[in-house]
Amino acid sequence: MISGHRGAAALAPENTLASVRKAAESGVSWIEVDTQLSLDGVPIVFHDETLNRCSNGKGKVADHTMAQLKTLDAGQWFSPAFKGETIPTLEELLDTCLALDLSLNLELKIHHRHQIEPLVKAVVTLIQQKAFPVDKLIFSSFEKEALEHCQALWPEVRRGFICEVWNGYSLDSLKSLDLYSIHIDHHILTPTIADSIKAAGLVLKIWTLNTPSKADRFFKMGVDNIITDKPDQFQVC
Ligand code: G3P
Ligand code: MG
Repeated sequence: MISGHRGAAALAPENTLASVRKAAESGVSWIEVDTQLSLDGVPIVFHDETLNRCSNGKGKVADHTMAQLKTLDAGQWFSPAFKGETIPTLEELLDTCLALDLSLNLELKIHHRHQIEPLVKAVVTLIQQKAFPVDKLIFSSFEKEALEHCQALWPEVRRGFICEVWNGYSLDSLKSLDLYSIHIDHHILTPTIADSIKAAGLVLKIWTLNTPSKADRFFKMGVDNIITDKPDQFQVC
């Protein structure tokens, strides 16, 4: 019922292999990470559009090749203890999940619309090559179009729609995606919204809840999974 957000973003630099290991140590079986493409079309694990916040690089991720990204330090901004941590390729991330027996909620992070189709193609190709188990995988995205490509290319993998507003669309408009889950910003979730999601037969995940004392209130609304930066502070089940 608990997933580590960007690995375990409060415990280690987000979206690094160190963060994934911290999540595993805290006992969760699921993690969420973000993937996007390097300039040369390699899926890498990073959240922001630019390198500025979470590495010692500057400028857009999409303007750097994988080799260039690999020269950057993605740990020291968080703490000197993580100096030398690099931006993982998705392949490295998959290998780490397989080694630690972690299931993966993979967010297709879209900063540039022209990358939607190439990103999904590259991700699907890589994951199929690695023979990552389908039952340990969910594709998620804020972008309906990304999930449409996932559905077309690999329909067997479950799809989750991420949202931070609810009024702008209805569950009806998402029906064609044949979703498994809705991943909603916990700040906007109300019992009415939760009821409509559950009534549609969908799994309900919330992000990013870092206050364990609030968990019960959300579980009572029907929330199935809490995505948190602090998986060590929640009772994992
Ligand atoms: O997947 C849920 C959550 O990660 C979405 O927001 O900005 O943290 O990727 P963000
Ligand atoms: Mg994310």
